[in-house]
Amino acid sequence: MSTQFNKFLFGCLFFLSAQISLAQETPFWQFQENISWVTTETASVANKNLLLADKPGNIIAIKDWQSAKPLVARAYIGDAILEMDFLLAESSSATVFLEGRYAIELKDNTSEWQRLQVKYRVPRFDDARNKTENAMILELVINGEQTSYNKIVDAVSPGALMHWEDAAGPLAIKANGVFALRNVKFLPADFSNIKLPEKSGEPSNEQTLIDFVELGKETFDSVGCNACHLIEKNSAGASTGPNLYGLFKREPRNRQVVEGGEGHKVTIKANRPYLHMSLREPAEQIAIRESGEKIGEAYLPIMPAFTKDTLSDIQIDAIGDYLATLNEPWDQGRLSNYSRLKAINLMILLLIVCNY
Ligand code: HEC
Repeated sequence: MSTQFNKFLFGCLFFLSAQISLAQETPFWQFQENISWVTTETASVANKNLLLADKPGNIIAIKDWQSAKPLVARAYIGDAILEMDFLLAESSSATVFLEGRYAIELKDNTSEWQRLQVKYRVPRFDDARNKTENAMILELVINGEQTSYNKIVDAVSPGALMHWEDAAGPLAIKANGVFALRNVKFLPADFSNIKLPEKSGEPSNEQTLIDFVELGKETFDSVGCNACHLIEKNSAGASTGPNLYGLFKREPRNRQVVEGGEGHKVTIKANRPYLHMSLREPAEQIAIRESGEKIGEAYLPIMPAFTKDTLSDIQIDAIGDYLATLNEPWDQGRLSNYSRLKAINLMILLLIVCNY
């Protein structure tokens, strides 16, 4: 087997260990307006109270928890990955309602910031709105320790925001005491291809599936795109190619390019076909600099063409799904369908890749 294939396989097998990089911010506007909560620059716990900085910041903290309304996200989404840091005072607790319905209890143990990571799959329904599959918490990790695995949830939890089950809903957080949160990431995923195990806690077919975003990231690095392209927001580093952060958005944005040999400047949409074109025939449309001293000038046409022998269409789509995640949360693309995290059967993928 070729080294490239080995590398690819390596990438495939390690997709599960994917960590999602975290932005520092917790934009308050992700949540519905709520006067019971404030934003602050710093928060700490002392004597069962929260000490908050007077300055607004990226931490969201509860003002008066006795009369407080739960914090409810604006976005209604289905399968999702949730990550956040939380701070609780001694004897305080909080409940996170996944999809506004399924409870996870958060407790204090140290009065220090703690970390929550959850992956969950919402219930499925048929056309007549009968539930065909229960909800499942694929993974619940608190402070790096897995506390739940493939937990099947068959009913809405007591105290939930919504009392009927559905295929989408908002994240909701209820504080029973002194509580603050930061670094909230609430990302839509697609776990459709995961089959629920017979019994709660047993393995699903997840090991045989591929995370497309992770595959894209692995491919991006293994075929050497990262040698010429930066991907961090506002990166100060120099590279020969454009920074790809923020290029592929949920709603494709305009991109100025120089077309063909004649050097005409045209505005195109930075969409999935543009990605395929950029890789297969890079000389057809040359990107124009959008910042820096040479703003308005075309880049040098030095990007190599990637043929199907080195990069399959599926790998390009995986790269596309990955690049679409390099955006502010509200701009993160959901391309070639509606999901950020796509799973396809490993065998099918290997067949396609082995075929070239
Ligand atoms: C040798 C350096 C080099 C390598 C390797 C390279 N690129 Fe590029 N890439 C460039 C340059 C330079 C440009 C700008 C000129 C152009 O549009 O062709 C560019 C343009 C692009 C564009 C259009 C960017 C925009 O802002 O419109 C995309 C998308 C892209 N590359 C993706 C990739 C991917 C994905 C890979 C790996 C499979 C890759 N590139 C590998 C140098 C490189």
